[in-house]
Amino acid sequence: MRVQFPTTRPRRLRASKIIRDAVAETQIDAGDFIYPLFVKPGGEREPIGPMPGIYRWPVGRELINHVEEALSLGINKFILFGVLPDELKNPEGTGGYDPEGVVPRAIRLIKEIFGDRVLVFADVCLCEYTDHGHCGVVKEKRDRWYVDNDETIKLYAKEAVVYAEAGADFVAPSGMMDGQVREIRRALDAHGFEEVGIMAYSAKYASAFYGPFRVAAASAPKFGDRRTYQMDPRNAYEALKEVAMDLEEGADIVMVKPALAYLDVIRLVKQHFPWVPLAAYNVSGEYSLVKAAATAGYVDERTITLEILTAIKRAGADLILTYHALEAAKWIKEGL
Ligand code: PBG
Ligand code: ZN
Repeated sequence: MRVQFPTTRPRRLRASKIIRDAVAETQIDAGDFIYPLFVKPGGEREPIGPMPGIYRWPVGRELINHVEEALSLGINKFILFGVLPDELKNPEGTGGYDPEGVVPRAIRLIKEIFGDRVLVFADVCLCEYTDHGHCGVVKEKRDRWYVDNDETIKLYAKEAVVYAEAGADFVAPSGMMDGQVREIRRALDAHGFEEVGIMAYSAKYASAFYGPFRVAAASAPKFGDRRTYQMDPRNAYEALKEVAMDLEEGADIVMVKPALAYLDVIRLVKQHFPWVPLAAYNVSGEYSLVKAAATAGYVDERTITLEILTAIKRAGADLILTYHALEAAKWIKEGL
């Protein structure tokens, strides 16, 4: 390859918007996005302090209007998270696998109204429903607490079946328990839900970037942290082990989370498993940082948001879970 000046002048391909667009390697559009929705049993729509523009939606009319607005912008994929008041939480997180629980009700409502115009993903975890805030069943051994892996994945399987019965297209286990994908796949198949897919949170890191989400979902652990089950941020290659295991167990889509501080992991997973659809979660803390800096006038929100989403796509993500979805879709429509 001859790349010698003056024969080769890279600036020729940057000289106008038309030529830049013609040679751009990466495109983002609304079809890349999965938009997270926080749903709660009733009452009023509630703003989430650290996440301006994001709300907890009661299952009802307003939620439907919001989904309608997203659809009008070309966003047709949603992932649901349940939010429960403290008095409905308990040690086993039964609210997570109650067929009349908030997420199954939201799935049924959305599917009833929009049917096949939308793809509904349901996050499968227990931290939103346990009183202690951990992602599974907490036990004690030799004066130390731990999350019981094998008991927890049975509850995830139950939760996944409840969401499938409600009409979820995909379930998305996020608890980082070993064998969770296999347990869920078996349970779905045993109940005749072979068509329901699994998007596995395969490489989910123990991250401070989840702070605002835990405010939104009131799901922060009451003691300890999640480092005995979520991945150590110092590890990149371990992500390949997690992805390989999840694929073996039956995952249809795999995920890296968070996105921005883990672009190397996204790239690594894409290069090793190029045939596997890869999602990346542009998490709450990444969103809050942008919102705070933009509000302070330190950065240009539109440009920085599109740059971040483009970077996640460029790194190798096929799908991006993002709270910026609606605004980004508007900006993309308007053109740069
Ligand atoms: C629950 C869950 C979390 C997120 C998605 N599912 C939080 C956590 O693990 O504490 C984080 C999403 C975000 O920060 O936007 N297991
Ligand atoms: Zn959890």
